[in-house]
Amino acid sequence: MYQRNPMRHPNFLDTTSSLLSLFLFITILVTSQIPLGCTGQAHSSNFTCIESERQALLQFRDSLIDESNRLSSWIGEDCCSWDGISCNKVIGHVVKLDLCNSEQLGFEFYRIRIPTFLGLLKDLRYLNLSNAGFVGEVPHHLGNLSHLRYLDIGMSENNLQGSIPSEIGQLRKLTRLYLFFNELNGTIPSSLWELTKLQTLEVDRNSLTGVLSEHHFVKLRELNSLYISCNFLSLHVSSSWVPPFQLRHITMDSIETGPQFPNWLRTQKEIEVLFMQNVSISDAIPSWFGVHFNYLKALDLSRNNLEGSLKSFATVADVDKEAIKIESLYLSYNRFTGSIPEDLCRLKTLMVLDLSNNHLSGSIPLCLGNLRHLVALSLSDNNLCGQIPSSLGNLEELGTLHLSGNKFDGKLPSSMQNLIRLQILDLGENGIKDIIPVWIGERLSDLKFLRLESNNFRGGIPDKFCQLLHLQVLNLAHNNLSGFIPHCFNNFTMMYSKNLLSVKSIILSANNLVGEIPDEIMDLVGLQIFNLSKNHLNGRIPQKIGNLKQLETLDLSMNELNGEIPPSLSGLNSLSSLNLSYNKLSGPIPSGNQLQTLTDPSIYEGNIGLCHSESDFLWFYAGLGPGFSVGVVGILGILQFKKTWRDAFFKFLENANDRIWVMITLKTARLRRNFHQVYVQKRLYSVFSYPAIRCHNTISWLSITT
Ligand SMILES: *[C@@H]1O[C@H](CO)[C@@H](O)[C@H](O)[C@H]1NC(C)=O
Ligand SMILES: *[C@@H]1O[C@H](CO)[C@@H](O)[C@H](O)[C@H]1NC(C)=O
Ligand SMILES: *[C@@H]1O[C@H](CO)[C@@H](O)[C@H](O)[C@H]1NC(C)=O
Ligand SMILES: *[C@@H]1O[C@H](CO)[C@@H](O)[C@H](O)[C@H]1NC(C)=O
Ligand SMILES: *[C@@H]1O[C@H](CO)[C@@H](O)[C@H](O)[C@H]1NC(C)=O
Ligand SMILES: *[C@@H]1O[C@H](CO)[C@@H](O)[C@H](O)[C@H]1NC(C)=O
Ligand SMILES: *[C@@H]1O[C@H](CO)[C@@H](O)[C@H](O)[C@H]1NC(C)=O
Ligand SMILES: *[C@@H]1O[C@H](CO)[C@@H](O)[C@H](O)[C@H]1NC(C)=O
Ligand SMILES: *[C@@H]1O[C@H](CO)[C@@H](O)[C@H](O)[C@H]1NC(C)=O
Repeated sequence: MYQRNPMRHPNFLDTTSSLLSLFLFITILVTSQIPLGCTGQAHSSNFTCIESERQALLQFRDSLIDESNRLSSWIGEDCCSWDGISCNKVIGHVVKLDLCNSEQLGFEFYRIRIPTFLGLLKDLRYLNLSNAGFVGEVPHHLGNLSHLRYLDIGMSENNLQGSIPSEIGQLRKLTRLYLFFNELNGTIPSSLWELTKLQTLEVDRNSLTGVLSEHHFVKLRELNSLYISCNFLSLHVSSSWVPPFQLRHITMDSIETGPQFPNWLRTQKEIEVLFMQNVSISDAIPSWFGVHFNYLKALDLSRNNLEGSLKSFATVADVDKEAIKIESLYLSYNRFTGSIPEDLCRLKTLMVLDLSNNHLSGSIPLCLGNLRHLVALSLSDNNLCGQIPSSLGNLEELGTLHLSGNKFDGKLPSSMQNLIRLQILDLGENGIKDIIPVWIGERLSDLKFLRLESNNFRGGIPDKFCQLLHLQVLNLAHNNLSGFIPHCFNNFTMMYSKNLLSVKSIILSANNLVGEIPDEIMDLVGLQIFNLSKNHLNGRIPQKIGNLKQLETLDLSMNELNGEIPPSLSGLNSLSSLNLSYNKLSGPIPSGNQLQTLTDPSIYEGNIGLCHSESDFLWFYAGLGPGFSVGVVGILGILQFKKTWRDAFFKFLENANDRIWVMITLKTARLRRNFHQVYVQKRLYSVFSYPAIRCHNTISWLSITT
């Protein structure tokens, strides 16, 4: 489902990338998790260290702004006992410098260059400056560290620019090179391909250019991890290429390598992680593919033009080898046809299965209920039909279930009440014909996101819904629901949170709801989207509407509301979309503040009794209204005059719970190294929706339950 909206608005993510960075920025300020792993302790030793190296370290210390005083131990004669330093016990040389940033230790070098005199520490074996906040170019002097085994200046928080220096080729003993998540550009220097001991090469998420081919890899016989995703690189090799290495981890998202399916993968029998999202493959999955990988844990081939049936893939389960360990399978945004093969049900270790946005037809195989470890299942946006099988109720670990955009009909199987860990349930845009079962409220008490939009649900909204204390997104639009809106909606305590980073919305539009808008909803002070349009609601707009200070969208159009518009409406400083048209409202349209910026006359039309005062639009022409709160200026200000972007944005928010995923994305980025393990260690983070931006604009999701 996350994937669907960008598809419908092809430019959406491009045009709002600045928004995303804004969110990311905010997020940096609010999140504080960083993986552990810094050594940081003193190393006892009876050496006094080599004087020239001590001097180099002191120079280094003095060049830093060590705000958090992490280098306070860098005094005295014995540099071997300083924090982050290790010496060789026999020769006394400094062999390890580990200055990775850890917020636990409150340590960062902010925005300075990597000092060149690090080049004096000639015996250094291990240099870890990851996440430490360095900027500027990678110094050529690093080439002097000819004993270096590990060089880690990735991650970010670092922001290195320019090209990779060709001197890197002098580090002949290098086994691991981490340069990921910087802004490195230019081509990869040819000397790098001479590093015959290299086992790990991580240069992903930079701006490197060029075409990689067989000859680059000739000497890299030891390579087992290749991370080149998200650069401007392409990989063009012949179909008969037999690489000199056996890779275990391959991530090359958005690296152009098609159109043929890469035949060389056939020689790589030890692959555990294969991420080849958006690599321009237009081909069928070859028949050798599945049976080949005994160690595969994570496979992402989404956003290609893979065609044919999924049968050939499912042969991974063909051989009942003891060793089939695949845990996540992302095949979304391809052109797979035919039905979901029953063979997939033999991938018993699967935790994430994403087949969304294909052309799959037929019904869900009953045996899918055998995949007991699934935490996330998405079959959205296919042509699947029939009833949702009751066997899905066996998936008791499931935290996320997306079945939207298919042709499912019939009733919801009551076995779904066993899915008590569900946090996201999206059944939108199907033909499900049922009442809203009371067990949703009674049993699915972890639900945060519930979308039943565009089905044939009828009857009332059960009061039991009010037991969903964690609910943040409720979308029941376009059904045939009748009766009153429950007064107990103020039980949705998550909607009291004013945290802008998570969307809170109630969308009940296009139903047959009657009665008044419950006053209690005005307690939900964190609510951002409130859409009740196209119902038969009557009575007045609650006076307390002015409490909903975070409201960005308020659509009450096409109801039977009467009385005056409460003046407190003008105090909703975040409001960017208002529609009160086609009601029975009367009296003056309130003016001032944010309302001055909402100038489309159609938002009040169809109310015979409403009158405008002349000065209403002045603020608009003078610029933006003065009432914008700081938090939304950045978010909404940009969109204010670009209606199509704005609509796309809010559509996206409603559906995709966008802010939540942006927040989580940053954590993913920091944990990227262990990306495929994130969900394995699923108790690590208590997040419910875990989509990852792999490259700049590429989104996929994975889901975690606590
Ligand atoms: C350093 O300590 C080790 C034992 O910890 C000892 O064997 C060695 O002789 C000591 N070296 C010097 C120079 O004191
Ligand atoms: C460098 O330190 C980071 C901690 O910030 C750690 O995750 C990483 O594994 C270290 N690099 C190497 C090569 O050990
Ligand atoms: C380190 O390398 C630079 C150039 O890469 C060179 O100019 C310099 O003399 C070297 N320093 C030492 C101490 O070897
Ligand atoms: C690389 O980036 C730097 C600035 O970061 C820029 O000056 C330089 O022209 C870029 N080089 C290439 C080859 O794009
Ligand atoms: C509202 O939440 C409380 C728990 O906080 C629960 O006991 C009560 O049943 C809920 N109200 C309704 C009407 O479900
Ligand atoms: C909606 O429900 C009403 C009864 O509440 C029924 O009369 C009507 O036919 C239903 N409409 C549709 C389209 O199912
Ligand atoms: C509210 O819901 C209706 C019906 O789904 C929709 O047409 C309208 O665009 C929504 N309003 C806003 C502001 O999104
Ligand atoms: C307001 O709602 C009416 C009826 O739903 C719709 O026709 C109109 O386009 C809406 N206006 C705006 C600005 O969205
Ligand atoms: C796919 O990769 C191309 C580069 O080959 C890149 O320009 C594009 O943005 C990527 N698309 C997505 C959705 O990531």
